[in-house]
Amino acid sequence: MGFSSAVNLDALCLLFLPKAAALPSIAAFLLVALTVLWFYPGGLAWALSKSTLPIPGPPGMVLALSGPAAHRDLATLAETRKATDLMAFSVGLTRFVVSSRPDTAREILNSSAFADRPMKESAHELLFHRAMGFAPFGEYWRNLRRVSATYMFSPKRIAAFGEHRSDIGQQMTESLMASMEKNGAVEVRKALHLGALNNVMMNVFGKRFDFGKGEGMELEELVKEGYEVLGEFNWSDHFPLLRWLDPQGIRKRSRRLVYKVNVFVESLIDEHRKRRQVNRDSVDNGAFVDVLLDLEKEERLSDSDMIAVLWEMIFRGTDTVAILLEWIMARMVLHQEMQSKAQAELDAVIGNSRLPTDTDIPNLPFLQSIVKETLRLHPPGPLLSWARLAVHDVNVGSHFIPAGTTAMVNMWAISRDVRNWENPDEFDPRRFEEEDVSILGSDLRLAPFGSGRRVCPGKALGLATVHLWLAQLLHKLRWIPVEEGVDLSECLKMSLEMKHPLVCKAFPRY
Ligand code: HEM
Ligand SMILES: *[C@@H]1O[C@H](CO)[C@@H](O)[C@H](O)[C@H]1NC(C)=O
Ligand SMILES: *[C@@H]1O[C@H](CO)[C@@H](O)[C@H](O)[C@H]1NC(C)=O
Repeated sequence: MGFSSAVNLDALCLLFLPKAAALPSIAAFLLVALTVLWFYPGGLAWALSKSTLPIPGPPGMVLALSGPAAHRDLATLAETRKATDLMAFSVGLTRFVVSSRPDTAREILNSSAFADRPMKESAHELLFHRAMGFAPFGEYWRNLRRVSATYMFSPKRIAAFGEHRSDIGQQMTESLMASMEKNGAVEVRKALHLGALNNVMMNVFGKRFDFGKGEGMELEELVKEGYEVLGEFNWSDHFPLLRWLDPQGIRKRSRRLVYKVNVFVESLIDEHRKRRQVNRDSVDNGAFVDVLLDLEKEERLSDSDMIAVLWEMIFRGTDTVAILLEWIMARMVLHQEMQSKAQAELDAVIGNSRLPTDTDIPNLPFLQSIVKETLRLHPPGPLLSWARLAVHDVNVGSHFIPAGTTAMVNMWAISRDVRNWENPDEFDPRRFEEEDVSILGSDLRLAPFGSGRRVCPGKALGLATVHLWLAQLLHKLRWIPVEEGVDLSECLKMSLEMKHPLVCKAFPRY
């Protein structure tokens, strides 16, 4: 066991000092040392750490993280290595652990030792280190959480935006109907995405956009490019030498994007500043940007911090909601009997002489179960999207985790594990009629929003949006498969998307 400390980094550095004559033997020694390290459980990065009792895990280097099915590959690896509790692995010089069980997941997510997040370089370049999601655990982060919990994510604020939400859902439904009439089938993705984006823009800037022209088109482009850059797996994050080279050209893309985002968001902030100078009373529509501008002097954010915070909200609030709703609709098209059951519930509670509203949602338990069941099978963040970083040395179960280790939770594996769920691969929302399971982070068998102090702050807003829009879409339309059926293939980018956009038919129900 002791050899990991014998071959620590200092020892490796010393090897470079002797003169050139010794080179061949040094090279040979290095080769042997590297080979030994390579086959250490968990691989190279773990061999170089000060941990002495190895955590089970694959040797060498795991390439899965860069692929489109990382959650599946990691789940398989953990199963075959009998390391579902906790598995160690390396990517370049970065040490990882991943949990695929509720109890170790709870320890990681709920522990103050894992309250930081690892910083991807692209996130840094995109200024996300000043945004809530990546800000290190501390005063700045705590303030952002508090302010947003009070003014953006509070039940009162969410309720106040019900009408906007409903308008946007209505608009979405109508655009899908128009497209059905025109083409004889609908591809739902674009409409959902634009709806979600408009919904967030309304929350953050109190403003809607006309997509496909002018400012709206620019916004669309910026968000799309942002997803691509951030979603890209960056080899340089794990191989320091590559950093100079930027082989994937990500730095260049990030910088160009940051410049454009700055100009765009700054101009929106300025609009609000000007309006406030003209008439302080007319600005109280509750947009989050006004809340930030109103902060007392000592808490006030600089302009660039504000841009980071606002941009992150746009970024995180759009993709997750749109992708989740697309998966839900795919499941509705595929499982006609579940769709009928949901529609029967809607008819009983709402009838067909009025539209669904926020206040109907508590009376629609089956509709809520459909959302839960889809989150179980198709979580937008199967690896909880944003990993955690060990701030200091800590134990998880019986395993020692050195500071600086990146910890992930494979929520996808947990919520499809037969040890946690009966018939785990079957889509059956009725399972929640028998056992009510909270999805907000208290039950680690199904925690698609994470858990602990870094849990998703947008979960209530996200769910309110998805519930209402789903009610609107199912209330107004009957969803039918096209001849080719529904293809449930998935692809992991920033979020877990449907590989092929859902195409189906939709007919008015009344
Ligand atoms: C279906 C919708 C959503 C899902 C599945 C989701 C999922 C997640 C997950 C898994 C995390 C990481 C939690 C952890 O580390 O324990 C997270 C963090 C976060 N989410 Fe969400 N999210 C959703 C909607 C939203 C919305 C609508 C917003 C804002 C408008 C939002 C803003 C954030 C932010 C700011 C963080 C970082 C929190 C921090 O690090 O302190 N999310 N989300
Ligand atoms: C990749 O990482 C390098 C250095 O860590 C950074 O300079 C570059 O911008 C990153 N690129 C992307 C796409 O994240
Ligand atoms: C997290 O830990 C706190 C105490 O530190 C406890 O009260 C809470 O129930 C835990 N949360 C979960 C989800 O286990």
